[in-house]
Amino acid sequence: MTQMLLSTAVACATVAAVAAAVMVWQKFHKHSHCDQALVLLYEFRHACATPLYVLRHISEHVALEMQAGLNQPGGSQLMMLPTFIEKLPNGCEKGLFYALDLSGTNFRVLRCLLGGPNARVIKQEYEVVAIPRALLLGTSEELFDFIAQRLISFIKLEGPEFQRGHNWNGHQIRELGLTISFPICQTSHNTGILIKWTEGFKIADGINDTVGTMAGGHYWNDDVMVGVILGTNTNACYVECNLPEDIQTKSGKMVIYMEWGRFWSSHLPRTYIDEQLDNESVNPGDRGFEKMTGAMYLGEIVRRVLARMAQEANLFGDSVPTKLKQPFILLTLEMSKMHADESPDLRIVDKVLKDVFDIKRTELSERRIVHSVCDTVTMRAARLAAAFIVGILKKIGRDGWDATGVSSRLMALPRDSEHRARLELKRTVVAMDGILYEHYHRFRIYMQAAVYELLSEAAARKLVIELSKDGSGTGASILAACHSEFAPSYS
Ligand code: BGC
Repeated sequence: MTQMLLSTAVACATVAAVAAAVMVWQKFHKHSHCDQALVLLYEFRHACATPLYVLRHISEHVALEMQAGLNQPGGSQLMMLPTFIEKLPNGCEKGLFYALDLSGTNFRVLRCLLGGPNARVIKQEYEVVAIPRALLLGTSEELFDFIAQRLISFIKLEGPEFQRGHNWNGHQIRELGLTISFPICQTSHNTGILIKWTEGFKIADGINDTVGTMAGGHYWNDDVMVGVILGTNTNACYVECNLPEDIQTKSGKMVIYMEWGRFWSSHLPRTYIDEQLDNESVNPGDRGFEKMTGAMYLGEIVRRVLARMAQEANLFGDSVPTKLKQPFILLTLEMSKMHADESPDLRIVDKVLKDVFDIKRTELSERRIVHSVCDTVTMRAARLAAAFIVGILKKIGRDGWDATGVSSRLMALPRDSEHRARLELKRTVVAMDGILYEHYHRFRIYMQAAVYELLSEAAARKLVIELSKDGSGTGASILAACHSEFAPSYS
């Protein structure tokens, strides 16, 4: 009997010891999974790092490439396309103007009634039209026929309150601005050739969406010198006052747009994930900066990092969740929700992982890693965008640093001297549009902080980054107003 009790006790003790060992092993094993994922995270973070000296090199490189592109068409990775636009809106425009804003898979038609300096934008209406998939794959003629029909239907809905346009030979005139999210080689302010998408396709009255953004900003604020789009894709334009000899204008100025998404520099912190994404893209080797900064890619970069962690460190369990293998399944919008999660248990991260990747259960430590990956990808994008903006400011002499890197010679000059007034930096406004800047809060904060880090204190005080209230579509209608052949001039 004693023997039996003893052996039962020994058996129980053995079971308990095995159970405890299993628990310890599981705990250790789990930790080691997360530890491996953490190693990958640190590696990735290190490869994405954007310390100040790297950003400074990038700004300098951007400014140099801008000059090279101006000196010689095709002489730089930046296209530096002249727009032949030297006159920007100033708020005095009056009348009814239409615009067409074409951006890939949909377009926007809008009408805008402008009332001059006091009334400004009296009324505005728009309609967003999705382009049927068949037309996206069809010919440009079919596509533009469709757009024209929808534009006519929209014009037919014009209410009497809008009918204050200009008349010409007894006909009511409706002028139209066209803005397009593709590179255009402009041959005058209202003619151009679409460079990409459909080769050789001719369009009239076309400007790039970035120029529309800048024009829209300038309508409200004369100090706008730069227009930037940080959205699905990215681009920038600015007012150039030192034009090369072969491009001359009456005022000596012209809006140049850059196609900065194509920029590439060995200073850009590129990782194996970026290389992988680029190699598998439809345009390998092209648009290096855009693939690190556009909202189209940020979610995808995060997905790729997580998939690698799942594969190599068993993050999310023993097998890689099927949906995590699906390219472009994680939208940047969902990524930004995870990044904004401030709850102690990261429950929004948990929800997005469930909703998007079908990952049923996650540990807090895993969610923390996911959050960190979002932060790393966004911080890099935002700081690079900042370096590019400062590159433009450097090119136009508004970054506040002189050639020797000294903040400014102003300090030594008396406050009220004439010389000082001449050297004093002017106020510079950057008109900004795009979902990343507008809706991704942390992106915006990181970007602004890096811009101010890069500028001299004096220049930082003179710089304003402003969301261009009405976007590129309204800007295009206002630009049409400012170049109207029929409207009387009120300026
Ligand atoms: C296009 C640019 C456009 C930008 C922002 C880029 O992919 O090449 O022309 O301005 O997207 O929409």
